Amino acid sequence: MRAAIFQFSPAFGDVAANMARIERAVRSADADLWVLPELATTGYLFADRAECSALAEPADGPSLRALVDLCRERSTRVVIGFAEREGERIYNAAAHLSPEGVLSVYRKVHLFDRERVTFDPGPGPFRVDPLGAHRLGMMICFDWVFPEAARSLALLGADVIAHPANLVLPFCQDAMVTRALENGVFCLTANRVGVERRAGVELAFTGRSQIVDPQGRVLARAPSDAEATLAVDLELELARDKSLTPRNDRLGDRRPECYVERE
Ligand code: ACM
Repeated sequence: MRAAIFQFSPAFGDVAANMARIERAVRSADADLWVLPELATTGYLFADRAECSALAEPADGPSLRALVDLCRERSTRVVIGFAEREGERIYNAAAHLSPEGVLSVYRKVHLFDRERVTFDPGPGPFRVDPLGAHRLGMMICFDWVFPEAARSLALLGADVIAHPANLVLPFCQDAMVTRALENGVFCLTANRVGVERRAGVELAFTGRSQIVDPQGRVLARAPSDAEATLAVDLELELARDKSLTPRNDRLGDRRPECYVERE
């Protein structure tokens, strides 16, 4: 399977311009799966919930419909982060799109900082989708801090974790190497670049989108400060082998009876 990531700097509030850039990127190279950043259609730094709601779209709204058409045209799949409106609720969401339509929507479980002002937390639980004979799971950006997110997806049989991101802390790219290694999965982190200055806040996004294999090897990494497309052939079957030594299996050796929940 050929997987691609498009890293760019979305223009805040300019959905038409962001969609045009995304569509141009997806037409620029052949891939079976594209992963785009978190909130790729809108930008990140909403002044308040009303502004976020005005820019958010339902999962059957015009942006995702246009991207499903693009999946049909290009015979590809797209995982993209977007602001989702469902009735009164607004989610920081990621959609898995294919030529058949919107296969699933994941609503971010662990909200970061000011996201708590503008979004409702996703209800979970984590889920995986079929990807041919394999499985794809989604998590979004700050979910990386909670190893339970990637572990839940791995326990559900994910071979690939698609990870749209708008990273501002400097730790995630290294941490996702560990998430890939400890779970024996491919991790595709699609981050953004650029700076947003809004509502008295300035955020600089860290780029360095990456594709990591189940042994924790970084197969491709983008620069920290420029638009980039990464594309790599992935042998998904490698994610089915969880062994680390002849006697150690990363999922099979777990001892849940020894693990504790916070009191
Ligand atoms: C983040 O979760 N966007 C940092």
